[in-house]
Amino acid sequence: MHIKSATFVMSNSDVKKCPNEPLPEYAFIGRSNVGKSSLINMLTERKSLAKTSGRPGKTQLINHFKINENWFLVDLPGYGYAKVSKKVKSTFQKFITKYFEERQQLVSAFVLIDIRHDPQKIDMEFMQWLGEHQIPFSIIFTKADKLKPKAIERDVKKYLDVLIADVWEEAPNYFITSSTSGTGKDELLEYIDQINKE
Ligand code: GTP
Ligand code: MG
Repeated sequence: MHIKSATFVMSNSDVKKCPNEPLPEYAFIGRSNVGKSSLINMLTERKSLAKTSGRPGKTQLINHFKINENWFLVDLPGYGYAKVSKKVKSTFQKFITKYFEERQQLVSAFVLIDIRHDPQKIDMEFMQWLGEHQIPFSIIFTKADKLKPKAIERDVKKYLDVLIADVWEEAPNYFITSSTSGTGKDELLEYIDQINKE
């Protein structure tokens, strides 16, 4: 899929105030600093469409980006960031939870995982929660440029093995990406394009 247009529509913390057009949407979620906002910029080839930062906790709201005038990419705050206050954390959690529970337009979530990290409890629990709520999702392994191809293969296999043993009977769909090199861009856009056409 070729991205002809990508525009920021709105930011807010209330799912009820999100755009009410009935367009398919795809949301990026995962731990703070995993690369959600960077991946949106990589996919859309817009350097600073979504705000990124080396410091975790950059994205604090639900951000809607309209793509090709007919679908949305959604950038969400990260979970599991220890340094924000407990109050901020619970506010984030509440509106993210509501977003996933109530957003009718959501077609699929993408759970981003830093490819260098071993399985973390918070990600496992979140994927389990998505499963329990019957919210479709795929995994996106990020920052693939940080590892050599052999290590990528080994670590992804290890990750999926844990996931199958702990949570799922079969591994979810997954993608390997790098926002710095563009790895995974075509596969991911093709996947979204296919679903949009169904
Ligand atoms: P929050 O909004 O805080 O939840 O973070 P985020 O998940 O949106 O992460 P963001 O895109 O802001 O990126 C965090 C840091 O990781 C930045 O310093 C990025 O430059 C870096 N980063 C993101 N993706 C990649 C990648 O694919 N490769 C490398 N090497 N660095 C990346
Ligand atoms: Mg962000």
